[in-house]
Amino acid sequence: MQSLNTFIFFSTFVLFASRILAGQADIISKGYLTIQYGDEIKGNITLGLYDTTTPKTVANFKALLTNNDPETGLINSTSNRIISGFMAQFGFLNGERLANYHIYQDEYPNPKGFPDEKGGLELIHNKYQLSMANRGRNTNSCQFFITFDETPWLNGGYVVFGEVIDGFETVNFLNNDVKTNRNDQPLTEVKVIACGLIEDKENMNEFDEL
Ligand SMILES: *[C@@H]1O[C@H](CO)[C@@H](O)[C@H](O)[C@H]1NC(C)=O
Ligand SMILES: *[C@@H]1O[C@H](CO)[C@@H](O)[C@H](O)[C@H]1NC(C)=O
Repeated sequence: MQSLNTFIFFSTFVLFASRILAGQADIISKGYLTIQYGDEIKGNITLGLYDTTTPKTVANFKALLTNNDPETGLINSTSNRIISGFMAQFGFLNGERLANYHIYQDEYPNPKGFPDEKGGLELIHNKYQLSMANRGRNTNSCQFFITFDETPWLNGGYVVFGEVIDGFETVNFLNNDVKTNRNDQPLTEVKVIACGLIEDKENMNEFDEL
Protein backbone atom coordinates (compact mmCIF):
# COMPACT_ATOMS: atom_id res chain seq x y z
CA MET A 1 0.00 0.00 0.00
CA GLN A 2 2.82 2.31 0.99
CA SER A 3 4.59 1.70 -2.30
CA LEU A 4 1.35 2.17 -4.22
CA ASN A 5 0.87 5.54 -2.54
CA THR A 6 4.45 6.45 -3.32
CA PHE A 7 3.88 5.40 -6.90
CA ILE A 8 0.70 7.50 -7.17
CA PHE A 9 2.46 10.46 -5.62
CA PHE A 10 5.40 10.07 -7.96
CA SER A 11 3.26 9.71 -11.11
CA THR A 12 1.25 12.75 -10.11
CA PHE A 13 4.43 14.69 -9.64
CA VAL A 14 5.75 13.60 -13.04
CA LEU A 15 2.43 14.51 -14.68
CA PHE A 16 2.48 17.89 -12.95
CA ALA A 17 6.11 18.56 -13.87
CA SER A 18 5.53 17.55 -17.48
CA ARG A 19 2.61 19.97 -17.75
CA ILE A 20 4.84 22.79 -16.55
CA LEU A 21 7.60 21.73 -18.94
CA ALA A 22 5.06 21.66 -21.76
CA GLY A 23 4.35 25.30 -21.03
CA GLN A 24 0.77 24.66 -20.04
CA ALA A 25 -1.34 26.37 -17.40
CA ASP A 26 -3.99 24.93 -15.06
CA ILE A 27 -7.33 24.02 -16.61
CA ILE A 28 -10.01 25.58 -14.41
CA SER A 29 -13.15 25.27 -16.53
CA LYS A 30 -14.31 23.59 -19.73
CA GLY A 31 -16.31 24.58 -22.76
CA TYR A 32 -17.41 22.81 -25.94
CA LEU A 33 -18.10 23.56 -29.58
CA THR A 34 -20.34 21.24 -31.61
CA ILE A 35 -19.05 21.23 -35.17
CA GLN A 36 -21.19 20.69 -38.26
CA TYR A 37 -19.62 20.23 -41.70
CA GLY A 38 -22.15 20.90 -44.43
CA ASP A 39 -25.15 18.90 -43.23
CA GLU A 40 -23.15 16.48 -41.12
CA ILE A 41 -22.59 16.83 -37.36
CA LYS A 42 -18.94 15.92 -36.80
CA GLY A 43 -18.93 16.06 -32.99
CA ASN A 44 -17.85 18.11 -30.01
CA ILE A 45 -14.50 19.73 -29.43
CA THR A 46 -14.02 20.04 -25.66
CA LEU A 47 -11.76 22.85 -24.53
CA GLY A 48 -9.98 23.22 -21.19
CA LEU A 49 -9.72 26.89 -20.20
CA TYR A 50 -6.93 28.64 -18.28
CA ASP A 51 -9.11 30.94 -16.14
CA THR A 52 -6.38 31.75 -13.60
CA THR A 53 -3.66 32.57 -16.13
CA THR A 54 -5.85 34.54 -18.57
CA PRO A 55 -8.99 35.63 -16.64
CA LYS A 56 -10.18 38.41 -18.97
CA THR A 57 -9.63 36.40 -22.14
CA VAL A 58 -11.44 33.37 -20.71
CA ALA A 59 -14.34 35.51 -19.40
CA ASN A 60 -14.79 36.96 -22.89
CA PHE A 61 -14.67 33.50 -24.48
CA LYS A 62 -17.19 32.10 -21.97
CA ALA A 63 -19.55 34.97 -22.74
CA LEU A 64 -19.31 34.11 -26.45
CA LEU A 65 -19.92 30.42 -25.71
CA THR A 66 -23.03 31.07 -23.64
CA ASN A 67 -24.57 34.02 -25.48
CA ASN A 68 -27.70 32.84 -27.28
CA ASP A 69 -27.84 35.91 -29.49
CA PRO A 70 -26.34 34.77 -32.82
CA GLU A 71 -25.21 38.38 -33.44
CA THR A 72 -22.81 38.38 -30.52
CA GLY A 73 -22.41 34.72 -29.58
CA LEU A 74 -20.55 31.80 -31.15
CA ILE A 75 -23.78 29.91 -31.78
CA ASN A 76 -24.17 29.41 -35.57
CA SER A 77 -20.88 31.16 -36.34
CA THR A 78 -18.56 29.66 -38.94
CA SER A 79 -14.87 29.00 -39.35
CA ASN A 80 -13.45 31.48 -41.85
CA ARG A 81 -9.95 30.02 -42.19
CA ILE A 82 -8.53 26.52 -42.01
CA ILE A 83 -4.94 25.71 -42.93
CA SER A 84 -3.98 22.03 -42.84
CA GLY A 85 -0.95 21.43 -40.65
CA PHE A 86 -1.39 24.82 -38.98
CA MET A 87 -4.74 25.81 -37.46
CA ALA A 88 -8.49 26.39 -37.72
CA GLN A 89 -9.75 29.89 -36.96
CA PHE A 90 -13.20 30.49 -35.48
CA GLY A 91 -15.31 33.30 -34.10
CA PHE A 92 -16.39 34.80 -37.37
CA LEU A 93 -19.52 36.28 -35.85
CA ASN A 94 -22.36 37.09 -38.17
CA GLY A 95 -20.26 37.03 -41.33
CA GLU A 96 -17.60 39.57 -40.32
CA ARG A 97 -19.95 42.40 -39.39
CA LEU A 98 -19.05 41.71 -35.79
CA ALA A 99 -15.57 40.37 -36.45
CA ASN A 100 -14.20 42.61 -33.68
CA TYR A 101 -16.89 42.05 -31.07
CA HIS A 102 -15.83 41.49 -27.42
CA ILE A 103 -17.41 42.05 -24.00
CA TYR A 104 -15.15 44.93 -22.92
CA GLN A 105 -16.48 47.51 -25.41
CA ASP A 106 -17.09 50.09 -22.67
CA GLU A 107 -13.56 49.82 -21.37
CA TYR A 108 -11.83 49.50 -24.77
CA PRO A 109 -14.13 51.08 -27.36
CA ASN A 110 -11.64 52.47 -29.78
CA PRO A 111 -8.55 50.39 -30.21
CA LYS A 112 -10.06 47.39 -31.96
CA GLY A 113 -9.92 44.89 -29.15
CA PHE A 114 -8.87 44.29 -25.57
CA PRO A 115 -5.31 44.00 -24.26
CA ASP A 116 -3.11 40.90 -24.35
CA GLU A 117 -2.82 39.15 -21.00
CA LYS A 118 0.80 38.60 -20.05
CA GLY A 119 0.19 35.11 -18.62
CA GLY A 120 -1.15 33.94 -21.99
CA LEU A 121 1.73 35.46 -23.96
CA GLU A 122 4.15 33.43 -21.83
CA LEU A 123 2.54 30.09 -22.77
CA ILE A 124 3.69 27.90 -25.63
CA HIS A 125 1.65 27.05 -28.75
CA ASN A 126 1.63 23.27 -28.57
CA LYS A 127 -0.45 21.01 -30.79
CA TYR A 128 -4.21 21.33 -29.98
CA GLN A 129 -3.75 24.71 -28.29
CA LEU A 130 -6.53 27.32 -28.01
CA SER A 131 -5.25 30.85 -28.67
CA MET A 132 -6.60 34.29 -29.59
CA ALA A 133 -6.39 35.58 -33.15
CA ASN A 134 -5.31 39.22 -33.39
CA ARG A 135 -4.14 41.97 -35.73
CA GLY A 136 -1.18 43.10 -33.67
CA ARG A 137 -0.71 43.89 -30.00
CA ASN A 138 -3.80 44.37 -27.83
CA THR A 139 -6.41 43.66 -30.50
CA ASN A 140 -8.21 40.64 -29.01
CA SER A 141 -11.89 40.26 -29.81
CA CYS A 142 -14.04 37.24 -30.68
CA GLN A 143 -11.75 35.39 -33.06
CA PHE A 144 -9.64 32.48 -31.86
CA PHE A 145 -7.85 29.46 -33.29
CA ILE A 146 -7.05 25.84 -32.50
CA THR A 147 -3.61 24.60 -33.56
CA PHE A 148 -3.09 21.37 -35.53
CA ASP A 149 0.60 21.22 -34.61
CA GLU A 150 3.24 23.06 -32.62
CA THR A 151 3.48 26.65 -33.93
CA PRO A 152 6.42 28.14 -31.99
CA TRP A 153 6.61 31.28 -34.18
CA LEU A 154 3.31 32.39 -32.61
CA ASN A 155 4.70 32.23 -29.04
CA GLY A 156 4.71 35.63 -27.36
CA GLY A 157 2.55 37.22 -30.05
CA TYR A 158 -0.79 35.55 -29.35
CA VAL A 159 -2.60 34.95 -26.06
CA VAL A 160 -2.86 31.21 -25.34
CA PHE A 161 -5.88 30.61 -23.10
CA GLY A 162 -6.76 26.91 -23.28
CA GLU A 163 -6.30 23.57 -24.99
CA VAL A 164 -8.32 20.77 -26.58
CA ILE A 165 -9.01 18.05 -24.00
CA ASP A 166 -11.49 15.91 -25.95
CA GLY A 167 -12.87 15.59 -29.47
CA PHE A 168 -9.42 15.26 -31.04
CA GLU A 169 -10.94 13.29 -33.94
CA THR A 170 -13.06 16.35 -34.81
CA VAL A 171 -9.99 18.59 -34.76
CA ASN A 172 -8.12 16.02 -36.86
CA PHE A 173 -11.01 15.99 -39.34
CA LEU A 174 -10.71 19.78 -39.73
CA ASN A 175 -6.96 19.40 -40.23
CA ASN A 176 -7.09 16.56 -42.76
CA ASP A 177 -10.39 16.58 -44.59
CA VAL A 178 -11.68 20.13 -45.12
CA LYS A 179 -11.12 21.49 -48.63
CA THR A 180 -10.44 25.21 -48.81
CA ASN A 181 -10.09 27.92 -51.46
CA ARG A 182 -7.08 30.16 -52.15
CA ASN A 183 -8.00 32.33 -49.16
CA ASP A 184 -8.08 29.29 -46.86
CA GLN A 185 -11.85 29.51 -46.53
CA PRO A 186 -13.63 26.14 -46.24
CA LEU A 187 -15.51 25.25 -49.46
CA THR A 188 -18.13 23.48 -47.34
CA GLU A 189 -19.37 25.43 -44.34
CA VAL A 190 -17.79 24.56 -40.96
CA LYS A 191 -20.32 25.76 -38.43
CA VAL A 192 -20.63 25.86 -34.63
CA ILE A 193 -24.21 24.60 -34.24
CA ALA A 194 -24.05 24.42 -30.43
CA CYS A 195 -21.63 25.58 -27.76
CA GLY A 196 -21.46 26.21 -24.04
CA LEU A 197 -19.78 25.41 -20.76
CA ILE A 198 -19.42 21.97 -19.24
CA GLU A 199 -20.26 22.20 -15.58
CA ASP A 200 -18.95 18.86 -14.24
CA LYS A 201 -16.25 19.14 -11.61
CA GLU A 202 -14.77 15.68 -12.23
CA ASN A 203 -11.16 15.38 -13.37
CA MET A 204 -10.71 19.14 -13.47
CA ASN A 205 -7.75 19.08 -11.16
CA GLU A 206 -6.23 15.68 -10.56
CA PHE A 207 -3.95 17.03 -7.85
CA ASP A 208 -6.66 18.30 -5.52
CA GLU A 209 -8.21 14.86 -5.31
CA LEU A 210 -5.22 13.14 -3.73
C1 LIG B 1 -21.75 18.07 -26.96
O1 LIG B 1 -21.59 18.33 -25.57
C2 LIG B 1 -22.76 18.81 -24.94
C3 LIG B 1 -22.41 19.20 -23.51
O2 LIG B 1 -21.79 18.15 -22.84
C4 LIG B 1 -23.84 17.76 -25.03
O3 LIG B 1 -25.04 18.25 -24.47
C5 LIG B 1 -24.09 17.40 -26.50
O4 LIG B 1 -24.99 16.35 -26.59
C6 LIG B 1 -22.80 17.00 -27.19
N1 LIG B 1 -23.04 16.84 -28.63
C7 LIG B 1 -22.48 15.89 -29.35
C8 LIG B 1 -22.79 15.89 -30.81
O5 LIG B 1 -21.75 15.03 -28.86
C1 LIG C 1 -29.02 28.58 -35.54
O1 LIG C 1 -29.35 28.13 -36.83
C2 LIG C 1 -30.44 27.19 -36.82
C3 LIG C 1 -30.60 26.67 -38.24
O2 LIG C 1 -30.58 27.70 -39.17
C4 LIG C 1 -31.69 27.92 -36.31
O3 LIG C 1 -32.78 27.02 -36.28
C5 LIG C 1 -31.42 28.44 -34.90
O4 LIG C 1 -32.51 29.19 -34.44
C6 LIG C 1 -30.17 29.30 -34.88
N1 LIG C 1 -29.84 29.61 -33.50
C7 LIG C 1 -29.84 30.85 -33.03
C8 LIG C 1 -29.50 31.00 -31.57
O5 LIG C 1 -30.07 31.80 -33.72
